[in-house]
Amino acid sequence: MVPVVDLSRRGKQLGPVFAAIVERISASGSLLLGPETAAFEQEFAAWTGAAAVVAVSSGASALQLSLAALGVGPGDEVIVPAFTAVPTAAAVCAVGAIPVPVDVEPDTANLDPALVAAARTSRTKAVIVVHLYGRPATLPDTDLLVVEDAAQAHGAVTDHSRSAAVAYSFYPTKNLGGIGDGGAVATADQALAERVRRLRAHGMTAMYVHEEISQNFRMSEIEAAWLRLGLGRLTADNRRRRAIATRYRTLAPSLCWQSPHDDHVYHLCVVRSGGRDPFRAALARREIATAVHYPLAITDQPAFSHFTRDRCPVAHTWAAQCVSVPCFPEMSDDEVELVGAALAEQAS
Ligand SMILES: Cc1ncc(COP(=O)(O)O)c(C=O)c1O
Repeated sequence: MVPVVDLSRRGKQLGPVFAAIVERISASGSLLLGPETAAFEQEFAAWTGAAAVVAVSSGASALQLSLAALGVGPGDEVIVPAFTAVPTAAAVCAVGAIPVPVDVEPDTANLDPALVAAARTSRTKAVIVVHLYGRPATLPDTDLLVVEDAAQAHGAVTDHSRSAAVAYSFYPTKNLGGIGDGGAVATADQALAERVRRLRAHGMTAMYVHEEISQNFRMSEIEAAWLRLGLGRLTADNRRRRAIATRYRTLAPSLCWQSPHDDHVYHLCVVRSGGRDPFRAALARREIATAVHYPLAITDQPAFSHFTRDRCPVAHTWAAQCVSVPCFPEMSDDEVELVGAALAEQAS
C-alpha cells in the first residue's frame, strides 16, 4: 500500500545522527530550554524571516500563548474558519474566549475574508486565519488582531509582519516534524515574543519570580535538536512536496484541487470528490491509501457545534468531499507515478 505519510522512512535516514544527539544532550545535563532550543529559535527565525521565534510545546500551545500574550481572554470573541483542525478553535476556548466559526472559500478551503466584517460584533477581538493544507490564505483587511495558524504551512508565510503572530506546529507529520510534540510562535513584535517567552514557563521572569500566572509550555532539548536536523532539509522537502502535487495535478487536471498558489507547501495534497467513498475505494483497489482531513466542520463537531452562529455550507461541503492522497518527501518516483496514474483514471 502507498501510505498517505510514512514517518518511518525519515526515522531510518536520521536515526544514527539522532542517537548521537541524544547521547550528547543527556551527557550535557541541559535538557529543557537550553542551547539547542535557543539555536533552533534563531535558525527557524532566519528560515522564516520572522524577527523573533519562541519555541513551545505544541502547535496548540503556540496558538493559545499567542492569544494570551495579545490579551485575548474571557468574554472576547475570536473568528475562526469553520473548516480547520479542531485545535484552532480549542485554543480560543483555552484562553476563555469564544470561537466564532465563519465559512471558508470554495476554491481554497481557507477562511473567506469577505465574511469577517459581517461576523464581527462589539466583542470580537481577533481573527485566526489558517493556511489549511499548506495553501496560503488571504488575510482579511481588518483592524482586528490577526493570528495566523501556520501549523500546516512552514514556508507558506513569506511575511511575518502582516499579522500579530504566526503559530507553527511541529507535530511529527508536519512539514517540519518533531520527534515528539513541539510548536513555535513567530512574530515581528519583540515585546510580544518576550511575553510568550514568559508565559511558556510558568510566567517566570527571574529564578522563581513569577510575574504572570501561566503553565508549562516548554520544548525539550532533544526535540529542538531533531528540529534543527529537519530544518536543514525543509526547503528541499517542501520542493519535493510541491513537485509531487504538481505531477498529480498535471496528470489529473480535471479533478477538484485547491486553487493553485506559488507558495503552497502541500502539507497535505487534497482533492475534493462528490463521490468520496467510491473514489477512495478505487484508489484502495490500486493499493493507494487515502485519508480525510477533516470529516466534520467545526460547526458540526459535537464539542463545538454550540458555537455556531451563521450556517457554513462551504465548510460542510469540504468536510463531506475532501480526500488526502499520498504526499510526503520520501515517496519514491514509482509511488508518485502509481498515485498519479490512479488519479488520472478517476479524472477520465
Ligand atoms: C491547523 C492546525 N492548527 C493547530 C494544530 C495543533 O498543533 P499540535 O498538534 O502541534 O498541537 C494542528 C495540528 O494538528 C493543525 O493542523
